Amino acid sequence: MATLGVNIDHIANVRQARKTVEPDPVQFAFLAELGGADSITVHLREDRRHIQDRDVFLLKDTIKTKLNLEMAATEEMLKISKKLLPDYVTLVPEKRQEVTTEGGLDVKNNKIYLKNFVESLKESNIQVSAFIDPLSEQINYSEQIGFNFIELHTGKYAELKGYDQHKELQRIIESTHEANDLGLVVNAGHGLNYNNVKKIASINNMNELNIGHSIVARALAIGLEKSVREMKSLITSN
Ligand code: PXP
Repeated sequence: MATLGVNIDHIANVRQARKTVEPDPVQFAFLAELGGADSITVHLREDRRHIQDRDVFLLKDTIKTKLNLEMAATEEMLKISKKLLPDYVTLVPEKRQEVTTEGGLDVKNNKIYLKNFVESLKESNIQVSAFIDPLSEQINYSEQIGFNFIELHTGKYAELKGYDQHKELQRIIESTHEANDLGLVVNAGHGLNYNNVKKIASINNMNELNIGHSIVARALAIGLEKSVREMKSLITSN
């Protein structure tokens, strides 16, 4: 059965909108674990638009599950991750202007650079995952480079509908089997929500699903009424 990695970047997004101290992603990681999260995922972006350096170091000290650090394959991030020592690192492509991670990492065209990068992380006992599109070529190169895991990009599957979505699901299923045959552990994520997760979760040997936006959106939907009630009570209980 697949495990659940909860991505808490969007908690930090709300905090950074005011550059204040709340909501604190560290506190929400604790709540995510109470809810059954098997790991906590954070993306420390180069522009620090949501998660901050302080967050990742506090998370490492306080979470009881596993820390999955998503990051770009840059020298700065290599230095931080070797100091932080998360349970694993997921390498993602990063563009300054994007709203979220748009496509998979091109492991084929960055083979030599990534091989050295992955080796350096492994020397520090950090397991490494590549966030890639479900394509045979990218899977084969991920294995050659020495990644322990791949995370299949489910963004397209999440966007498509009907038969097109069914075809994309088949591509993800085939990719999972192909990667397993090469000895890679397979995770998946991006755009997964309460409507579309079941088919991905039921893929044989799916290891972990990383889900953020839909969980945080649902938390707002089921939590807002209570938070307004509490505020109203403070105002009216004089
Ligand atoms: N996996 C990776 C590699 C990601 O970059 C993201 C988005 O930060 C996710 C999973 C989670 O995607 P979503 O927020 O759409 O659930």
